[in-house]
Amino acid sequence: MSTSARRIVVLPGDGIGPEIVAEGRRVLDAVVASHGLNLEIEEHPFGGAAYDLHGHPLPESTLAPCREADAILLGAIGGPIYDKAPRDLRPERGLLGLRSALGLFANLRPAMLYPELSDASSLKPELVAGLDIVILRELTGGIYFGSPRGIEERDGVRTGFNTMVYDENEIHRIAVRAFELCRARRPEGGARLCSVDKANVLEVSELWRETVTRVSADYPNVELSHMYVDNAAMQLIRAPKQFDVIVTGNLFGDVLSDAAAMLTGSIGMLPSASLDDAGKGLYEPIHGSAPDIAGKGIANPLATILSVAMMLRYTLNEGAAADAIESAVQRVISAGVRSADIAVEGEATVGTRAMGQAVLDALAG
Ligand code: IPM
Ligand code: MG
Repeated sequence: MSTSARRIVVLPGDGIGPEIVAEGRRVLDAVVASHGLNLEIEEHPFGGAAYDLHGHPLPESTLAPCREADAILLGAIGGPIYDKAPRDLRPERGLLGLRSALGLFANLRPAMLYPELSDASSLKPELVAGLDIVILRELTGGIYFGSPRGIEERDGVRTGFNTMVYDENEIHRIAVRAFELCRARRPEGGARLCSVDKANVLEVSELWRETVTRVSADYPNVELSHMYVDNAAMQLIRAPKQFDVIVTGNLFGDVLSDAAAMLTGSIGMLPSASLDDAGKGLYEPIHGSAPDIAGKGIANPLATILSVAMMLRYTLNEGAAADAIESAVQRVISAGVRSADIAVEGEATVGTRAMGQAVLDALAG
């Protein structure tokens, strides 16, 4: 049976983005060949790179193909040289605009530990051994998008303001996603969902908690708990394995997912997916554009390579190709190949290209 080509847009972005995306593409090309996939792949400037070229971080010439695409692979965006750009033209605005324009409301951020890397974690190995949690962050609402927002003079004082707002429908759809994710992770039952909010202070969180609780009635096999965000931050550092899936709003998810990522030893290992309600997705490493090491060829491309695997699994329904990539990465880690970010003192390290090559070799082997 032949299927029509699926369209992938690649956005290398800024900083280390182009270097790590190049390795992601090489791995994607390899599984396209080995699994007989039919993909059309095109690349467009995005973020600071697009601002430099077109005066906008998300020009129509990039947004239009993204709308048409089945999936998008993103490197990273931003850097200090754009700090002086007008706020609405900063690279970050491009990313927010893309998430919003494509309705990518469900952001999956897994934090799992490779046993071989437990020494790279900032926590004691026994606290993180076997860690495998997912943070599901709401991505197109909350304080990131609420209005009014701005900086204005009020009674002679410059005043900055943003608005944290969620309606029931937005909370309902991310809650349904969270329960479905729990069910998919543990079809045999025993999944646990922790909803994180600040319902002791914020009305928006009160509605969040009420709505998530209402949705839970449809998922009797998932154990739901609620936690305040300050406590959740503490619990993540104290005993992270108490969590299975965490669902939370945009800002809380931004903060907690960085903390969770660091528990695994390297933010350079973790992929993410941002999904709409029809399976379309934007896939990107959790880490940023790391301007300090850009162009040096030392960035870890594994988070991007694992983002390619997520893309194959979640949007393209090519689970076997995704498994092949993930198992190749696991073998590379087991064999002791280390980029600088995941090496412990004294260990030999490889650069971006060599790490990508190691994954390619493992795929072929
Ligand atoms: C992230 C990043 C973004 C966010 C920035 C770059 C806009 O920190 O994806 O976590 O805050 O969402
Ligand atoms: Mg962040």
